[in-house]
Parts: sequence; C-alpha cells; structure tokens
Amino acid sequence: MASATAPKHRRRAVPFMAVLLTAMAMRAAAAGCEGDKFPAGRSYAHCAALPKLGARLHWTHDATTGSLSVAFVARPAGAGGAGWVSWAVNPTGDGMKGAQALVAFQPSPAAPYAVNTYNITGYKPFGARSTPIAFRPTELAADAAPAAGEVRLYGKLQLSPGTQVVNHLWQVGSAVTAGAPAKHAFDKDNLEAKGKLALSGAALAPASAPAVAGAGGSAAAEQGGSAGGGAKPSSAKAAAAAAAAPVLMLLALAVGFMATV
Ligand SMILES: *[C@@H]1O[C@H](CO)[C@@H](O)[C@H](O)[C@H]1NC(C)=O
Repeated sequence: MASATAPKHRRRAVPFMAVLLTAMAMRAAAAGCEGDKFPAGRSYAHCAALPKLGARLHWTHDATTGSLSVAFVARPAGAGGAGWVSWAVNPTGDGMKGAQALVAFQPSPAAPYAVNTYNITGYKPFGARSTPIAFRPTELAADAAPAAGEVRLYGKLQLSPGTQVVNHLWQVGSAVTAGAPAKHAFDKDNLEAKGKLALSGAALAPASAPAVAGAGGSAAAEQGGSAGGGAKPSSAKAAAAAAAAPVLMLLALAVGFMATV
C-alpha cells in the first residue's frame, strides 16, 4: 500500500517544489531592485540594482512622448537614515557638472520628505530652494521605504522624445543643513555612482561593442557602459540561480524523505 502511494506523492511534490524554488530564486534576486514594493498606484516597467551605494532605480519610459517616470530607492548616508538621496540625468556630460538632479530629503528633522530639483553648475553647495532643470519635472514626491533607513524618491521628467540612453548619476548625503542638502562624501563609491541607462531596459553593450545610437557618439562605448544600465542584469540572475542550487538539493532531499515516509 505504502509503496503504491509514494510515487503519487512524488509526482505532486515536483510542481510544488518548482513553485517553491521559483519563489526562492525570486527572493534571492530581490536582494536587488526586485525586492522593492511600492504604494498602490506606483508601478514601473523596469528596474536596475545600481552598482554603487546600494541604490535601485525603477522606471517607466514612454518612448513616444519622452516621459520618464522614476522611483529611486537608497539609504541616506547619515546615522539613523539622516541626510538625502538623489538621482540625476546629465544631458551634457557624465559627471556631476551639468547634472539635472532630483534630491529627496527632510528639510527639518520632523518635516515630511520634500523633493527639490537642482541644475548642478559646479561644486557649489545646494541652496534650500529648487533651481529650474532642463527636463520638466512633475509628480515629485518622496517617502520612507519599508526597509529601515531607506528613502524613495518619485518623479516624472520630460525628456526629449527619441531619447534612448541617458547618462545618469545617483548620490547619498549624510546631512541637511539649514534646509538644504549638504555636501556628500567623496569616497570611491560616491564618485563612481554613475553610468548609462538604456531607457528601454535593455542591458547596454559592453565597451568593445559599437556605440548605442542616439547616445552621443563614442561615449556610449565607454567602459562601465553597463553600469546600472541593464534592467535585471543577467549576473544577478546567475547569482540567484547559484544561491538557489544548494536549496534545490536540500529540498529534493526533504521531498524525497516526505514521499518515502
Ligand atoms: C543650468 O545652468 C547652466 C549654467 O549656468 C545654464 O546654462 C542652463 O541654462 C541652466 N539650465 C536651466 C534649465 O536653467
């Protein structure tokens, strides 16, 4: 009797195991951007775990109109989540100068989060007031993320229709002084928090590949072209699969055990 029912159990256990493993693999991938959950009404077509500062970018791009809706998630650098987070597009270069930035912060410790815009003209301190930026910003908002100390910055930028790749950069700071985001650290990770973003969500070509059309010439083939460019990078998937492999073996043992009991 027992030997007749065992294969049945096993057959049922296999799809169950597949579902469980898929869920676990998704969990593993969620260590990146896919773990982010947003309030109702906020959802995005793409997401990328950015290579520096533990930040993630979620976005939806309407290629026809040029509208780019983003949610940027990062942990401000200050103790207990104090400070600010910022995401920017630079239409004229790949560094800070010329960046059109969105910055989320609490103007004073108990105040709700605000989002300011800054046209970064150089290494000057930010003021407490927004300055006009090149991409018409709408729907600016920010809130505390469920993960301790993280902040989510939301906004929509009006890019030129036809834009396919942008230089983007992101940053975190540890303090807000007199209602303005104070200077961030200049550690390696701070300085390297930039890359190219393919708005389609496609991974960008590596350095040796031809330049991406519309990206402004040879700059598109620069080293680090894939930094933060590819949504759900395949390396993350591979890591998730690798992480799931030992789990698979354990589960197979456990299911085998249950089936033979
Ligand atoms: C940003 O600043 C630069 C340099 O001062 C200026 O040329 C540009 O017009 C400014 N952009 C906007 C949108 O005001």
